[in-house]
Amino acid sequence: MGLALTELTVSHFRSHKLARVSLDGRPVAIHGPNGAGKTNILEAVSLFSPGRGMRRASAAEMTRRPEALGWKVSGVLGAQGQRYEIETWSEGGAARQVRIDEKASSQIELGKLARVVWLIPSMDRLWIEGAEGRRRFLDRIALSFDPTHAEASLSYEKAMRERNRLLKEQVRDAHWYAALEGQMAESGHRIHAARLSALDYLRAAQDRAETAFPSAELELIQTEGAMPETAEDLRDALSESRFRDLAAGRTLVGPHRSDVYGVFAAKGVPAKDCSTGEQKALLVSLILSNARALAEMVGAPPIVLLDEVAAHLDAGRRAALYDEICALGAQAWMTGTGPELFTELGDRAQTVVVTEGDEGSVVTA
Ligand SMILES: Nc1ncnc2c1ncn2[C@@H]1O[C@H](COP(=O)(O)OP(=O)(O)O)[C@@H](O)[C@H]1O
Ligand SMILES: [Mg+2]
Repeated sequence: MGLALTELTVSHFRSHKLARVSLDGRPVAIHGPNGAGKTNILEAVSLFSPGRGMRRASAAEMTRRPEALGWKVSGVLGAQGQRYEIETWSEGGAARQVRIDEKASSQIELGKLARVVWLIPSMDRLWIEGAEGRRRFLDRIALSFDPTHAEASLSYEKAMRERNRLLKEQVRDAHWYAALEGQMAESGHRIHAARLSALDYLRAAQDRAETAFPSAELELIQTEGAMPETAEDLRDALSESRFRDLAAGRTLVGPHRSDVYGVFAAKGVPAKDCSTGEQKALLVSLILSNARALAEMVGAPPIVLLDEVAAHLDAGRRAALYDEICALGAQAWMTGTGPELFTELGDRAQTVVVTEGDEGSVVTA
């Protein structure tokens, strides 16, 4: 069995007042009408990994209204033959906290135990919208391989914000710039290296996989120029760019200017020019590759969250997806409006029904 939640309790979280389910490691098929609270369950599960969860919401947004008391998500996680009790919560909109086996812990520690990857409907426009979404997509993948990736991103962004502030205010203190550029070079180089190795892991997993989903050729590119290869080079590039950056009022070189270029490999067509269905299939393929690569790296597949994915695939592709998930041994949490979307799974999955009640969402396993 892969990494799996065996108990999940969701309390005062969005539409859920109190929901509790016991699970056995099989994939979880969640169905119920629109607005019932299915995605909210997946979002709660996404909080078993570091960061803001799959909707990138603040702790305050996730608090059940109108009470707005704060929320708590807890569960028992089975990983590598071990059992961990995990709790994460927020009080009064404050940053979320984490406890593992009743001891205060950090999101990075959580990230080392639980790997969670997801595909959500808003990613359908990933290839046609701006570079930021694609960077974030790749960063989530990089984070799943390397739980310290988030630290590098935070430290880079903090230093860049400060540098951008100096640029806007037309400050010309060379020492101040040099100090910030040193920090940006160090963390920026780590970010770039983690992204490149994430792409290598994906490529290797795609090449080895027997899959019904199309493979994607992915390449990290720069919006402008080339990404400096070493931390030293990045520091020099930042320093050289200072004059130009002063004119622009922001930093123009670095990993925040990277983008992911994707091609539907079999056809040689850029992902952005593929049909909606093909773009979806590429994303499914990438998430499965991410899961396969993680299974090899850490010895267990991650928890995979697939929100409204079934509805977008034809019956053949859907059956293939279920077969591949079961072959991987991943605890995939999948949502759909009706049970007919999950018939091909049969008893290979557990069913959870979510409906809307007077007191909020009602969850029955
Ligand atoms: N903070 C919140 N407090 C209470 N209800 C919320 C909160 N955030 C979202 N909701 C409600 O959750 C419902 C949507 O749940 P969702 O899980 O997205 O539905 P679906 O089953 O369609 O996936 C909506 O009715 C929305 O009003
Ligand atoms: Mg939904």
